[in-house]
Amino acid sequence: MRATLFGTGYVGLVTGTCLAEVGHDIVCVDVDAAKIDKLNNGIIPIYEPGLQPMVQSNHEAGRLRFTTDAEAGIAHGEVIFIAVGTPPDGDGDADLRYVVEVARTIGAHIKRPTIIVNKSTVPVGTADRVRSVIAEQLAARGEDIAFDVVSNPEFLKEGDAVNDCMRPDRIIIGSDSTRAVDRLKRLYAPFNRNHERILVMDVRSAELTKYAANAMLATKISFMNEIANVAECVGADVEMVRQGIGSDPRIGWHFIYPGAGYGGSCFPKDVRALSRTAFKCEYRTELLDAVEAVNDRQKNHLFELLLRHYGGESALQGKTFAVWGLAFKPNTDDMREASSRRLIEQLWRAGAKVRAYDPEAREATHGLYGAREDLVLCDSANAALAEADALVVVTEWKQFRSPDFSRLRTVLTDGVIFDGRNLYHPEEVEAAGLAYYGIGRGRSL
Ligand code: UGA
Repeated sequence: MRATLFGTGYVGLVTGTCLAEVGHDIVCVDVDAAKIDKLNNGIIPIYEPGLQPMVQSNHEAGRLRFTTDAEAGIAHGEVIFIAVGTPPDGDGDADLRYVVEVARTIGAHIKRPTIIVNKSTVPVGTADRVRSVIAEQLAARGEDIAFDVVSNPEFLKEGDAVNDCMRPDRIIIGSDSTRAVDRLKRLYAPFNRNHERILVMDVRSAELTKYAANAMLATKISFMNEIANVAECVGADVEMVRQGIGSDPRIGWHFIYPGAGYGGSCFPKDVRALSRTAFKCEYRTELLDAVEAVNDRQKNHLFELLLRHYGGESALQGKTFAVWGLAFKPNTDDMREASSRRLIEQLWRAGAKVRAYDPEAREATHGLYGAREDLVLCDSANAALAEADALVVVTEWKQFRSPDFSRLRTVLTDGVIFDGRNLYHPEEVEAAGLAYYGIGRGRSL
């Protein structure tokens, strides 16, 4: 089938590539000419494992094309996806400017019955808005062309996006049009083998499903961070508690890892946006507001542990901290709402220096902070340790999992590790003569 995707960010690029991979004829449209140029030369703008070779092979096979020509893109697709960004606006609402702009363009150029699919994470009711924007454009043109607007939210995770897209655990199609549902079922048939993954529902339920999924996952994390903080107070180890509760299948093992708070482009924005949506219909989401507040507080926690160890902010003045991991999670270079940012900024305010290493987020971090004396972006984990007084682990990249603790003991002047993702066993670290602080590990405080 022929499909067009508007937006070559995470969602658009990964979805377009996976659709091409299973044999569909795909055109990706973006207003950013430099980005399209790069894509046409095989350079992908994001770090996502497995994506680059797939983009390249499908591009070479002619099934995946990139253009800034919206009109040509609209002429190409029987199905047109809207996969542009919905960044938060000043009030925490999702900013729909780009979605509306694409809808306007579609309305201005469609020439035959078309299915418009919303893949961007958009507040409930957006499909109706897209429908009316397109209808207005058609009316202005004096045209009467049939079109459907479908909600088909994306559930891919950064760092594992290709796998999530190729092997989805569910494909949600929100539409009341049989014609649109049939078309999308055909488009997704290659991803729907062995067992039924397609779930058809009304548009608003589909839109809400996306927010409910992210809000539920964020809630699990904040809940676990809260338990971690209680564990610290009462002298318990949250890692034991995690294993104790995760074995209950009703709770499950996923997303109960305490840490330095959740970040990224989705959870923080989506929890806030869902709360705002509810507020507009006069419902106060007390639970979601607490999820956000707990997360915000958790982002201070590593710094609080540092203060506890050093006995106050003034003791941090002039110290140098090695920071391992900057991206909001492993396998990405994404620094959006990353917990490392809060920590680094707090360290700077206290007059400390940072020597940081992240396998992928070096450039993104440089882009955020520019060149400054109190930030050295290192080429390796070991290089970050040079002249450091202590080590803080913020992101759980695999390569940080088993360092040589006796070497760390000789390198770190103050002999202390702050483990923001509970990667290490306190006993092992302490046996090497280092002090250890984890998240929710009361027994080590
Ligand atoms: C999230 C969802 O997991 C995807 O299903 C969804 O499609 C995506 O948002 C989206 O809306 O586009 P993502 O933001 O890429 O994906 O990353 P996650 O793997 O969910 O991690 C989010 C944050 O939670 C990270 O900062 C991670 O460190 C943190 N986290 C995750 C924890 O602190 N503890 C956990 O147990 C799990």
